[in-house]
Amino acid sequence: MYSHCGVGSYFREKSLGFRCLTRFCIVFVSEALIACELLKLSRDSLVDPVAHMFIDHLHDEGRHAVFFSECFVQLWRKISRCERNYVVQVLLEVLAVFCRPDISFLQTLFKGRPVIGNEVVVYLESSWSARMLEVSGPTLRAIERTDLLDDEGYLLQFRKAGLVA
Ligand SMILES: [Fe+2]
Repeated sequence: MYSHCGVGSYFREKSLGFRCLTRFCIVFVSEALIACELLKLSRDSLVDPVAHMFIDHLHDEGRHAVFFSECFVQLWRKISRCERNYVVQVLLEVLAVFCRPDISFLQTLFKGRPVIGNEVVVYLESSWSARMLEVSGPTLRAIERTDLLDDEGYLLQFRKAGLVA
């Protein structure tokens, strides 16, 4: 429903020199996001086999999220100002890509029911920035373990995206 497949085209547009940083940011954000989504799903009332599957998967994804959050903290200490500028921009763009609804997928999904499909698109379009705030929690917690938000410019970028007060 959301634009995970948009990440591929996003990645291809990036310059070769920054592809490793781009790749890292995509993995860091996605692992944190998956763990967050699984945690939400696991809290729903589910039949036991489904609940167990989500919880098992959550344990794995939780470990991945912790690992990549730690990598981010270490990476941030070592990269140059220029690389930091790039990472901040990419983190915000990747979070947005993951949270925006995938319109073409939704149009395909609701091909036989275009009126309902349009209502779903309108609803998801109007709520994606709230969703971004909701799912960016684990990413922000890793960011808060660095001095990233001590920088006025970076803080302003995160404020503009509605991710920090
Ligand atoms: Fe994972």
